[in-house]
Amino acid sequence: MCGIVGYVGVGDVGNILLSGLKNLEYRGYDSAGIALHNNDRIDIFKAAGKLENLYELVSDQQDKLAATSGIGHIRWATHGKATTKNAHPHLSNNGQLALVHNGIIENYKSLREELEREGYVFLSETDTEVAAHLFEREYKKWGTLEAAVSSGVKYLKGAFAFCVIHQNEPEKIVAVRQNVPLIVGLGEGENFVASDIPAIVGKVRKIVYLNDGEMATVSRNAVSVYDFNGRKVDYRTEYVDMSPDVISKRGYPHFMLKEIHEQQDIVRHLLQDAYADGQKIPVLQKVHIEEAAKAEKIEIIACGTSLHAAAVAGFVFEEWLKIPVSVIAASEYIYRCCLTDEKTLTIGISQSGETADTITAVKRAKEHGAHILVLTNREDSSIVRYADSRLPLKAGIEVSVAATKSYTAQLTCLYLLGLALAAERRSLSLDELGQLHDELRQLPTKMEKVLNEAENVKAAAEKLKNYHQMIYIARGINLPTAMEGALKLKEISYVNANGYAAGELKHGPIALLDENMPVMAVLTPGNRVYDKMISNCEEARARHSLLVGVSFDEDKTAERLFDLLLTVPPVTEVFSPLLLALPLQLLAYHIADLLGREVDRPRNLAKSVTVE
Ligand code: G6P
Repeated sequence: MCGIVGYVGVGDVGNILLSGLKNLEYRGYDSAGIALHNNDRIDIFKAAGKLENLYELVSDQQDKLAATSGIGHIRWATHGKATTKNAHPHLSNNGQLALVHNGIIENYKSLREELEREGYVFLSETDTEVAAHLFEREYKKWGTLEAAVSSGVKYLKGAFAFCVIHQNEPEKIVAVRQNVPLIVGLGEGENFVASDIPAIVGKVRKIVYLNDGEMATVSRNAVSVYDFNGRKVDYRTEYVDMSPDVISKRGYPHFMLKEIHEQQDIVRHLLQDAYADGQKIPVLQKVHIEEAAKAEKIEIIACGTSLHAAAVAGFVFEEWLKIPVSVIAASEYIYRCCLTDEKTLTIGISQSGETADTITAVKRAKEHGAHILVLTNREDSSIVRYADSRLPLKAGIEVSVAATKSYTAQLTCLYLLGLALAAERRSLSLDELGQLHDELRQLPTKMEKVLNEAENVKAAAEKLKNYHQMIYIARGINLPTAMEGALKLKEISYVNANGYAAGELKHGPIALLDENMPVMAVLTPGNRVYDKMISNCEEARARHSLLVGVSFDEDKTAERLFDLLLTVPPVTEVFSPLLLALPLQLLAYHIADLLGREVDRPRNLAKSVTVE
């Protein structure tokens, strides 16, 4: 996904746009650019690479940053490499119209051919540039920016959010939304457009969420919203209850570390909300629990880290609810034979609520009649449109591209959901529910202990930082923990780390083991797979692998066996993924940091991927 910001007002336009982009960096960082309306002309500044490059470009041109309005963009490349030419804003051939875009124009090839036949010259490899020429063509026909854009968007297929400015219409931005989020921020004598709240946090108190198929004309003192046929639409303003603090690092060197340390409080609050007023069964306000509990099977759909949370829930729900649960990567669900029906509970998990694969999958499940329950950190996101029931993660904005706090919030919400469903289905006794409830309530304190006593994780990172590869193994409910640990390490440190079911080690991956391949084992004493895990670790030791383990405190066998051991307080096995995730997040963080990686902005990744 990319980030968009627009501003019209008497402020320092260029610098307002740049600071907005800074707060949207989690959405992409391949290139960035701004277009400034300077009364009789539009000036464009673009730079490939990190946003710092754009800051540098404009640093000695401050006099040119004054303007009456402007638009900015930060890119995560889809069509066309991350070059300056492909960076937004894109300009029309006559140099009068500039735009920024988030999304994908699916029919851009045929439109490009059509426009080329009409004489338009393309300078970039992007899908976006067709819109610049298309809107210029329509402007020539209709004479106003609103009319040009509303006519132009009818030719476009796909998903898009645009901000468009025109040389002849100073102090005006036209913003359009179709399947990609866009908000308008309402100020005093100034107004904003943005992909997301962080771009304008602290600058406005009121915002308007544009709906799909709507466009807004934004000037200094007025905002009007229309549908694509030009009919005026009444809009609702909402208050932004976010302080600028939510996007500050609060003294931590990286957002990732800050977000790791927020986890115990997030989990604590989720539990307090669900168990308010002393009840023993969690109450989930936005979940139609009776309806959801009638399901005869459950499907859980997600991508990336959210998919690992889904996989943990797969184990938990089968144990607690005694019904079949399938956990499917959203990108795979879409192409499988669909057995989803009205007896299915489909759970879509997406931190951002904007991941295209997950949205498409959830939409398909809805078409097949499933009850759709959505877990998301963004209640204003696109996936919510398809939800019959919702479970808000309440983790606060997650800025670091590598997900941490949203993962443990997802696990917590899934535990709560599992318990509420089990109570409704009576698949667990009241005693069992009570015991699980008591265990769950202790987790935040245990999490706090893990995070406060994590010095040995940094020491382990020192010892592991020079290995180029690592294998993570586990069995049962902690297999997803191993896979998530490996994902964290590879995505931010670029160390090739892979998670395997420990029993599968001997069926192939064991061929990779030698003194250059550390094995990280995730295990919990006192359960049915522990001894088998120990045997698998011995097998690795026999092949000269450095053995690293994550287990409970006072695991004497592990203390003897492992070269490096990270520990967490003991907990019932079913809740162990929540605790064991923490040292693995910290380990990945410290290795990446020691290797000098850009922890919060790993290469090639984006916080959420809005293309399939
Ligand atoms: C991207 C991010 C991952 C994230 C995945 C799913 O690939 O880099 O960190 O887990 O998307 O995101 P979602 O917002 O749907 O949970």
